[in-house]
Amino acid sequence: MEEKNDDVQPPPAGKVVGIIFNCKRGTNQALPDAEAEYDSMDTVYAIRDVFADAGLQTVLLECDETLPQALQNTHIDIAFNIAEGRSGRGREAEAPALLNLLGIPFTGSDETALCIALDKALCKKLLSAYHIRTPRFRVISSDKDVRLGGLRVPVIVKPNAEGSSKGIPDACVASSEAEFKELVRRELRLYGGPVLAEEYIPGREFTVGLLGNGETLRVFPPMEIVFRGNTNGDYQVYSYGVKQAYTKYVRYECPARLDSKTEEKMIRTARRVYRALGCCDFARVDFRLTEDGTLYFIEINPLPGLAPGYSDYPMLAEFAGVSYRELVLSVLRAGMRRYGLETVQ
Ligand SMILES: Nc1ncnc2c1ncn2[C@@H]1O[C@H](COP(=O)(O)OP(=O)(O)OP(=O)(O)O)[C@@H](O)[C@H]1O
Ligand SMILES: [Mg+2]
Repeated sequence: MEEKNDDVQPPPAGKVVGIIFNCKRGTNQALPDAEAEYDSMDTVYAIRDVFADAGLQTVLLECDETLPQALQNTHIDIAFNIAEGRSGRGREAEAPALLNLLGIPFTGSDETALCIALDKALCKKLLSAYHIRTPRFRVISSDKDVRLGGLRVPVIVKPNAEGSSKGIPDACVASSEAEFKELVRRELRLYGGPVLAEEYIPGREFTVGLLGNGETLRVFPPMEIVFRGNTNGDYQVYSYGVKQAYTKYVRYECPARLDSKTEEKMIRTARRVYRALGCCDFARVDFRLTEDGTLYFIEINPLPGLAPGYSDYPMLAEFAGVSYRELVLSVLRAGMRRYGLETVQ
């Protein structure tokens, strides 16, 4: 099912690439996962080194209140956007919207796709129009509305608009209504909400990487996140703690052991989600598969983590024979092509 593209050539030397990011500052000691979504400077430097090695000039730009001025004072040909933004469900739109306003090309999805993907409930509603199966859910925004409202336990409780398993602690799946209320109240207190309460889907977990656009969109073979046992009480969750100590709790299998029909369905669904949202250049889609073979879409990450040796997206690319360097350059080239900054070879 894999499709090849020819993005392995380095982009034209001499272009100036602005890397836009939010980096971990370590200022919130109370919540260990407060900056889970942000990148470490090691990741930013790894991306910069790839570009520098390919003969490109780079500028590092932090996505904060200095960004509008910095973009007006610095010439860049294209932005390589990995910024998570500051706050709220629209935070990932901050950099792309500003870049659009200033007429600066950028890699990755636009502000609309990023916003819809980050708001998990909104994304699920959109995908229901495409008949893509996702777990039943409720959004809870206030202490006054903490009820199951027809959901069947077990129910997983997570922030509606976060990633990197921020707000998904060790205790995140409720087996009873009382436990559910406790978990939702905790989540609202610590992370502010809205909270997404979703029926917990037991079964195997997979993630699928996409790279490129249109006819040359490439889907990497699905990677299974194989749990070594229960991780969160009686359940298996790729939670914050599990991701932090992943070697202890999970192993990765790529290509995943799947019959060809299921694999095709997973790849086709990932592709449909990517297109439904109008994603560009790259993304990662998470799935659960029940014992009876029912496939559930969990979420899409149009700004998948790029931490070398840690993030799932570079890992599954590596399994498909695409090195970190090739991957980062391919994302850049995909973006450049969309803007006509480079001729297709
Ligand atoms: N409905 C569900 N049923 C079973 N497990 C779930 C469900 N929703 C989430 N999970 C578990 O929790 C993990 C994290 O959930 P999710 O992918 O929604 O969060 P995230 O913070 O956006 O993750 P990412 O790091 O991919 O950005 C999943 O990988 C899966 O293990
Ligand atoms: Mg996920």
